[in-house]
Amino acid sequence: MIEKVHHIGIAVQDLDAALRVLKEVFGVEAANVEEIPSLKVKVGFVPIGDTQLELVQPTALDSTTAKFIATRGEGLHHIALGTCDVTAALKKAEEGGAKLIDKEPRPGAHGTRIGFLHPKSTFGTLIELVEEGKH
Ligand code: CO
Repeated sequence: MIEKVHHIGIAVQDLDAALRVLKEVFGVEAANVEEIPSLKVKVGFVPIGDTQLELVQPTALDSTTAKFIATRGEGLHHIALGTCDVTAALKKAEEGGAKLIDKEPRPGAHGTRIGFLHPKSTFGTLIELVEEGKH
């Protein structure tokens, strides 16, 4: 049901500055940049091989990403696992003993449906489950 590492999320204070760094240091560029109102963030997706980096910049002080940066600084924020059925993957995770942040999927970037597991369930690592939109 879990198919791949869909992306790796990095919390940043300034998305444009972070994208410039990735371009200058590694020569990689964002395929798309968009706001995700449900998470109060602006994100840039940088494809690398079969996976992507997602740079996540908070757009409001009460965004959970803003709180993350305030307490822990910029850095590795979450790992997103790709699935063909996020609803079923969330259910299976809960049945397996994980604590869910999202009982139901919410809209993610680029037409995806996503749900987060509580990091306490998964060795301090925030895990996102993501289902691609139908193209
Ligand atoms: Co993500």
